[in-house]
Amino acid sequence: MLILGIESSCDETAASVVKDHREVLSNVIASQVDEHKLYGGVVPEIASRRHCENILWVVQKALEDAHTTLDELDGIAVTYAPGLIGALLVGVNFAKGLALASKKSLVPVHHIAGHIAANYIAHPDLKPPYLCLVVSGGHSHIVEVLSYTEFHVIGRTRDDAAGECFDKCARAMGFPYPGGVHIDKASKSGDPKAFTLPRPKIAGNEYDFSFSGLKTAVINMLHNAKQKGEEINCNDLSACVQNTIASIVTEHTMSAAERLGYNKIAVAGGVSANSGVRETMSKMCDKKGYSLYMPPLSLCGDNAAMIACAGSYNFDAGIRADSSLNAYATMSLEENISLEARRTI
Ligand code: KG4
Ligand code: ZN
Repeated sequence: MLILGIESSCDETAASVVKDHREVLSNVIASQVDEHKLYGGVVPEIASRRHCENILWVVQKALEDAHTTLDELDGIAVTYAPGLIGALLVGVNFAKGLALASKKSLVPVHHIAGHIAANYIAHPDLKPPYLCLVVSGGHSHIVEVLSYTEFHVIGRTRDDAAGECFDKCARAMGFPYPGGVHIDKASKSGDPKAFTLPRPKIAGNEYDFSFSGLKTAVINMLHNAKQKGEEINCNDLSACVQNTIASIVTEHTMSAAERLGYNKIAVAGGVSANSGVRETMSKMCDKKGYSLYMPPLSLCGDNAAMIACAGSYNFDAGIRADSSLNAYATMSLEENISLEARRTI
């Protein structure tokens, strides 16, 4: 089975062809990060325009690299939610046109389901059910992956996502956008015990996250130091931020796994590239005897191979969309296949 995946939910225009669910034949990504860096974050209007300019050659290259043609495809999978609406619409409309012209099935994919699927590409033995920590720029979720297409979100962020917290702390320290990777690098020569940062206790759902208090504490610390003419060692502060985020996400995932009886854990999303998160999760999973699955760094961030992989499982499950498919800026992972209901909105 050959599925073409298309991803345009944020600032990466990406296309990929995946064979039989997990074999990546091509994986093309046109990143806009250098342009958005100038503004300190993604400018939605610019993102949409660049997707428009890039999508045709990105898809053509994905087909060429895979030595295949539209005719040979079984379906065209596209990210339709969640993300920047103008950015998503470019991929969705392109996929709709392509599916209509080539008479191929159009398969809608939820972006988070895509991140979860990145691990299938890297780990041939990984099969549901298992517990997945999804940490990205826009989302922090603990998800029970019940099957390839069914998910139960048991914890989510109440405010900022883990990646957003990394990026905002990094920005306050003067690192360029996206700052997560700079905090990761700076941490390597910092002391993770140099500062005490807040660890939020949340009332209600014990698996939920809250990162806004941590972000505010870091911004205030830097602001106060500046006012006093003092200098803060950003390597140390980076190590403390990374250590705090890594231990919070790991602790929540471990207690959910223990309570719900999972011994198979996966991590996905852009922040799964973070060395602190990877190390802390690995140590704790080793200690508890859990199997841990993490994507290679190349599949942690946004890419279309993960969308094609998730799309091929949706295809198997009979999940299809027609030309009325719309894009949605927000949509929970659990409601993602209720497309029939959505069409009437
Ligand atoms: O999954 P992703 O590419 O996009 C979304 O779906 O949001 O995640 C992007 C996020 C950004 O916040 C970025 O700073 C963060 O992932 N990120 C990292 C690292 N690499 C990417 N955060 C911490 N450490 C890293 N090494
Ligand atoms: Zn993403």
